Amino acid sequence: MDSSLLNEHIVLQLPFGLVLLDEFKMEQWHNQHVFMHLQLDPQLPLEKKSYRELFSAVEGLYKVIHKQTSTNFKPFRIFASRTEAGKYLNIWGKPMLGGILVITSDVTELKQLEHKNLEAMVEGQEVERMRLARELHDGLGPLMSAIQLKVDQSISPPSPGEPDKASELKDLIHTVSKEIRAVSHALIPGSLLDFGLSPALKSLCERMEQPGLEITYYAPKSVPRLEQAKELGIYRIAQELLHNALKHARANHIHMQLSSDGGNLTLSVEDDGTGMSNLDPADSGIGLRNVRNRTRSLEGTFVLESQPGKGVLALVEIPVI
Ligand SMILES: Nc1ncnc2c1ncn2[C@@H]1O[C@H](COP(=O)(O)OP(=O)(O)O)[C@@H](O)[C@H]1O
Ligand SMILES: [Mg+2]
Repeated sequence: MDSSLLNEHIVLQLPFGLVLLDEFKMEQWHNQHVFMHLQLDPQLPLEKKSYRELFSAVEGLYKVIHKQTSTNFKPFRIFASRTEAGKYLNIWGKPMLGGILVITSDVTELKQLEHKNLEAMVEGQEVERMRLARELHDGLGPLMSAIQLKVDQSISPPSPGEPDKASELKDLIHTVSKEIRAVSHALIPGSLLDFGLSPALKSLCERMEQPGLEITYYAPKSVPRLEQAKELGIYRIAQELLHNALKHARANHIHMQLSSDGGNLTLSVEDDGTGMSNLDPADSGIGLRNVRNRTRSLEGTFVLESQPGKGVLALVEIPVI
């Protein structure tokens, strides 16, 4: 068999999208997969289309090609770029035949798997936290009360002039009990389980206030109760956003707000601090990445708005029906 025919046959079988651009960044050759990957209409010819038209469905790709080809062409790789149709593509650009070969590979399934793993991890952490909190609260709590009672019963009041060992011991026991409650509360906020999201967020804001930093909270009178996992997820998101404003913003005022319009619950956290110059999700830390993952696993949307010196506004919208 003719080896060039064989090559061609093999190339057609590969699950990659291939587009060869000429030196003017116009289409010169492509294979069939690019139609699917780049959301192009298979009925319309691609001949001599510019890279701008070809790659319009993949945010960022057009810009990368523009940048990488402004002087001498530099090869590039983009990982898991999201297309308008919600596909994830890995994309490579290589110099070839005086132009550029762009190769796309569909990694949507991998990305979904990664997302599922993340979700399971987050859920696993919460289950473990809840178990520990319960153990501390229900196991150690009553034990400490029992010790307190025994101490009360068995230590006689001090004789005049002697140090009051009993009350020192009682103070110590009281402190340990308080610590246990605080740790259990940090693991899983009791007020969240007992009273719901809004009272728990209000108490979170109150606890975090410090001299020189005002934290205000607003929510309508009645916020509907949601499934436990949803309330906990939104609480964790609020916790991280508040923590960020406390840690990074150097703000004077933070305002948290919850609002509900029937179909959606919206959480906003706004500060008047230093703001962020880089809002690119790819550059965020673990905290904001977790916020994005949690929002996604609750099928909601997350938006960050900021300008340097003008504070940060974080908006999370979760469908609740
Ligand atoms: N409210 C904020 N004000 C100013 N900068 C912020 C704010 N929130 C986040 N940032 C910036 O974004 C970065 C990433 O945040 P995050 O993903 O939570 O990671 P971490 O808090 O661990 O640094 C922070 O290091 C900080 O530079
Ligand atoms: Mg953080």
